[in-house]
Amino acid sequence: MPALIVAGAQWGDEGKGKLVDHLARQAHTVARYQGGHNAGHTVVINNEKFILHLIPSGILHEGKLCVIGNGVVIDPACLIEEMDALISRGVNIGDNLLVSENAHLIMPYHMALEAASESRMGSKKIGTTGRGIGLAYTDKMARTGIRMKDIMDPGLFKERLRAALEKANRLLDALYGTQGFVLEEVFDKYTVYAERLKKHVGNAGLVLNTALREGKNVLIEGAQGTLLDIDHGTYPYVTSSNASAGGACTGLGIGPTMIDGVMGVIKAYTTRVGNGPFPTELEDKTGEFLREKGGEYGATTGRPRRCGWLDIVALDHAVRVNGLSGFALTKLDILDGVDTIKVCTAYRVDGAVTREFPPDAATLERCEPVYEELKGWKESTSGIKKLGGLPANARKYIEWIEDRLGIGADMISTGQRRDELIIVKENFH
Ligand code: GDP
Ligand code: IMO
Ligand code: MG
Repeated sequence: MPALIVAGAQWGDEGKGKLVDHLARQAHTVARYQGGHNAGHTVVINNEKFILHLIPSGILHEGKLCVIGNGVVIDPACLIEEMDALISRGVNIGDNLLVSENAHLIMPYHMALEAASESRMGSKKIGTTGRGIGLAYTDKMARTGIRMKDIMDPGLFKERLRAALEKANRLLDALYGTQGFVLEEVFDKYTVYAERLKKHVGNAGLVLNTALREGKNVLIEGAQGTLLDIDHGTYPYVTSSNASAGGACTGLGIGPTMIDGVMGVIKAYTTRVGNGPFPTELEDKTGEFLREKGGEYGATTGRPRRCGWLDIVALDHAVRVNGLSGFALTKLDILDGVDTIKVCTAYRVDGAVTREFPPDAATLERCEPVYEELKGWKESTSGIKKLGGLPANARKYIEWIEDRLGIGADMISTGQRRDELIIVKENFH
């Protein structure tokens, strides 16, 4: 199987990093296609924790080519910081990192504009990660963005930066009364970044297509999740990129015929960071239990994650939007000891019952979950590596999800650590 996409099926933080790290063993190349350092992907090796924000989660395996595609927005200072942090922990980056020359950059004014906009929105704010992601994509679409290749050419960079700053500074002043940025200061900083990054910048699409043509396994790592997708998520409470599988082609420069499988990552319950509708949210003791036992605090911002039961209506939507060929179920161990597990199978909204995920946040806000109850299990599943080793009710929970979604579980994760994993079906050979 040459190209496999791993995408989040919920609101992000499903455990993509852990699974990508596992699958990367069999991959030649691991590539990120969208998002930016709003992502936080955790990999735990023995007792050492790595949180990756921009660099694909394959970097922890020696010799894997890790690609940051054109669809990603990059804050070069954060990329350099992440590289240095990995190097200081003994990870060999060497020539293993390739950044698309067409990737757009996050500039200081993006962060400033986002902070100002969020504070103006008050209670209606999105609850972003504050990383300037949305504003960088805004400039990309407005054709006023600055790309990785632009900062490699000082003359062209200064020209584009001057035009961008003229607009951004005026906006900051007129809308928010905040101070703008000085051309020479931003220029000098980004020129230093360019010097450091230039050996890693190139034609990523060409490299990926060559690898695929040679039959090499390419693992494609999504960030965020389907319900945060700009088109298919709970708009406007979403991120500004196509987090679902469709984004992989445009975000990497490869064709849809190159994709052989799409694995959705599903947490055994649901979490969400930031604002927006969440029908199965539990604002009670069970929600607190999931947050504390699951360590549900943002890997990027440290914010507490909102927690709730599994939502089959939302997952059905994710199966369709991504064309999922299979799924990986994570954090099964967190449900150990829960007497009764609830699962949402429909919504009650405006006097009717529906099994369709509503296309807008306002309708979703009015949806009440309709639950089915499944029996939990008392035994610990922590660290179990064989399907047969799971308690009968845990197996029933997995089979129930498979049956409802019409796709199979390829992997089941039973702990944070790299090796705490049940492999049902190998995706790469
Ligand atoms: P990602 O953004 O999808 O990569 O997920 P995050 O890294 O933000 O959040 C997932 C969290 O759950 C991390 O702290 C992981 O170490 C942890 N995790 C992943 N799989 C499991 C699992 O099966 N069991 C437990 N207990 N923790 C897990
Ligand atoms: P990973 O890859 C969970 C959320 C933010 C906010 C919304 C928009 O680790 O799963 P943004 O800064 O992107 O403009 O914020 O999206 N968000 C995430 N939630 N996991 C993530 O990434 C997220 N990246 C963004 O909390 O609600
Ligand atoms: Mg995360």
